[in-house]
Amino acid sequence: MNSINPQRIPRHVAIIMDGNGRWAEQRGMERVYGHVHGVESVRKSVKAAARWGVEYLTIYAFSTENWGRPTEEVNALMELFCESSLGEAPALQRAGVRMRFIGNLAGLSPRVQDAIRRSEQMTADNTKLTLQIAVNYSSRWEITDMVRRMAEEAKNGRLSPDEITPDKISDYLTTAGVPDPDLLIRTSGEHRLSNFLLWQLSYSELYFTDIFWPDFDEKAFDLAIMDFQNRQRRYGLLTK
Ligand code: IPE
Ligand code: IPE
Ligand code: MG
Repeated sequence: MNSINPQRIPRHVAIIMDGNGRWAEQRGMERVYGHVHGVESVRKSVKAAARWGVEYLTIYAFSTENWGRPTEEVNALMELFCESSLGEAPALQRAGVRMRFIGNLAGLSPRVQDAIRRSEQMTADNTKLTLQIAVNYSSRWEITDMVRRMAEEAKNGRLSPDEITPDKISDYLTTAGVPDPDLLIRTSGEHRLSNFLLWQLSYSELYFTDIFWPDFDEKAFDLAIMDFQNRQRRYGLLTK
């Protein structure tokens, strides 16, 4: 198949945007140069997703493990989040895109938290596409936080153990109310999840490409959708 079937578009696409540093190094530049170029790829993916009617696009921007990188790189990334979330908000607003941030947001600096709050507020009423940006996120942090909050509610008598079901657990995650990803894309040739959406990706189709994130464009996004459309999702059942 070499065209996209508009009847079988994934509702939710998640992306591990990887390879910015290697992309920059290949060009003899600092790693940060790759992160800056990566913003353009986000723009292109948002455009492609909106064009096909994808409802949710979740992108992994900064993991809890990424704090271990050199301070200059971490600072540059934080600066880039502030600049690009506020800078992109008007265009996203015009395109009908709602921004939603997930992760341990309380662990970010007040400046980053403020940029997050403002860009979420600016785009809050949009319904065409929800862009979820995972910042200071890791799945193990999220699952630990979920268990802690549930235990707290149980202790206070507001939650009984037999009310704990898979759906209930989903309600306590940062992605509450959002359907699980249908498709996960990871760029840069790495074949791992790196602590991203472990619960939510249980039945997602996985797509890996060698393209470094700054080179990922609308065409690359479309190829991933086409690949997804050739998959047969069985959810443990048998096919006729
Ligand atoms: C992904 O690119 C962006 C973040 C993790 C913030 P990397 O910075 O991981 O680039 P590589 O994988 O080192 O090339
Ligand atoms: C995953 O990429 C995190 C983000 C894309 C934000 P990493 O580059 O941090 O992951 P590893 O180190 O290759 O597993
Ligand atoms: Mg990487």
